[in-house]
Amino acid sequence: MMPSSPETTPHPHHAPVRNLAIWYRRFGDPEQVLQLEQAPLAPVGAAELQVRMLYAPVNASDLIPVTGAYGHRVIPPQVAGYEGVGIVTNAPAEYRGLLGKRVLPLRGQGTWQSVVACEPQWAIPVPDAIDDPLAARGYINPLAALLMLKQHPPAGKHLLLTAAGSDCALLLGQWALRQGALSVSGVHRSPAHAPRLAACGITPIRQTDSAAIVRAAACADLVFDATGGELAQALLAALPAHADFVCYGLLSGRPFHQLQPLPRVHWFHIRNTLGAITGPQWQALFGDIWPLLASSIISASRHVALADWQQAIRLYSQGGRAVRPLLVMPPLLLP
Ligand SMILES: NC(=O)c1ccc[n+]([C@@H]2O[C@H](COP(=O)([O-])OP(=O)(O)OC[C@H]3O[C@@H](n4cnc5c(N)ncnc54)[C@H](OP(=O)(O)O)[C@@H]3O)[C@@H](O)[C@H]2O)c1
Repeated sequence: MMPSSPETTPHPHHAPVRNLAIWYRRFGDPEQVLQLEQAPLAPVGAAELQVRMLYAPVNASDLIPVTGAYGHRVIPPQVAGYEGVGIVTNAPAEYRGLLGKRVLPLRGQGTWQSVVACEPQWAIPVPDAIDDPLAARGYINPLAALLMLKQHPPAGKHLLLTAAGSDCALLLGQWALRQGALSVSGVHRSPAHAPRLAACGITPIRQTDSAAIVRAAACADLVFDATGGELAQALLAALPAHADFVCYGLLSGRPFHQLQPLPRVHWFHIRNTLGAITGPQWQALFGDIWPLLASSIISASRHVALADWQQAIRLYSQGGRAVRPLLVMPPLLLP
C-alpha cells in the first residue's frame, strides 16, 4: 500500500507548527494521568530523522509503564507509546533516501504524538506490501514473539500459552507451529477467543477449566506466560521437571513464587535484549518479521482519533476484545 504524501514543505512564514502529544507527568491509572498537550514542534537534531506519525497502537506494553510498574526504568514526564508508523519529513544527508518513506521510528521518543524524532539506525523502513495499520504494530509484540522463540526454540516441543487471546500469544503460537512445535495449547480468559485460537492451530483451553489446564501442563515442554499470579503458580506445580517456563508479562498484576528449582523459570523482556543488538542486526530482525506478520492472524485494527485517546483506552480494556485500538494522528497544527 502506498503511503500518503509527505509533509516536507515548511510553513511559508516559518512559524513553528505545533505538536500534539499524549503525556504522563506522574504515574497512575492511564485514563487519569495521560493528557493531550500541544506545544511548538521541537527542532530536529542534525543526526536525527523527523517522522510525521500516521498511526500508533494501544498495547499492554504502552499502558503498563504509565502505571509505574516499571517505575525505576521509565520515569515521567514522558510521551506515551512505544511503536507506530509515520513518514520521514527530515533526514540527515546520508539518510536522504528515507525522505517521504514510511518508517517505524523506534527506541526514541514516545510515539503517541504527531511528530517523533529518532536515530536513523533504529528506524525501520516499511515494505510496500505492508499496509499502515499493520506496520504500526510491527514492533512490540512481533519482536517479542520472534526473540522468545529464538531464545527458546519450540521445535519438537509441546507448548502452552497463557493470555492466549493476546496478539503476542497468537504470534507465538502460530510461529512456534511453523518452527516445528508438536502442539500449542492456549489458556484464554474470555470465551470469545476460542474460535480464533483454533483457526491459528492453537488448542483453546478456558481459564476456568482447571482440570484441562493441569492436564495440558503435565505434558508441556515449554510455557510462555503473560499472566503471573495464580495461573502461573498452578502451571509451575503441574509442569514436568524438564519444562521451561518463560514469564513475559504479569497481566494479573500479581506475582508468583518459584517453590522448587525445576521446572526452570526464565524472564523475558524486550528491553533486556536491546543492548546486545547492533543497528544492522536490528534491521535484519525486521526482515524476518515482515513476511511472518503479513501471513499471520492477529486482531484487526480499530481506528480512534488521537483526541479520543480515552475512548481508545476504554476499548483496549474490554474483555474478549478482538480488535486493537489504533490512534490516528491529526495533521500538524499551525499556530
Ligand atoms: N516482555 C516483553 O518484552 C513483552 C513484549 C510484548 C508484550 N508483552 C506482554 O504480552 C502480554 C500481551 O500483550 P498484547 O499487547 O499482546 O495483549 P493484547 O493483545 O492487548 O491482549 C491482552 C489479552 O490478555 C488477556 N488478559 C488480560 N488480563 C488477564 C488476566 N488477568 N488473566 C488472563 N488473561 C488476561 C485479555 O483477555 P480478555 O480478552 O479475556 O480480557 C486479552 O486477551 C502483556 O502482558 C504484555 O505486557 C511483553
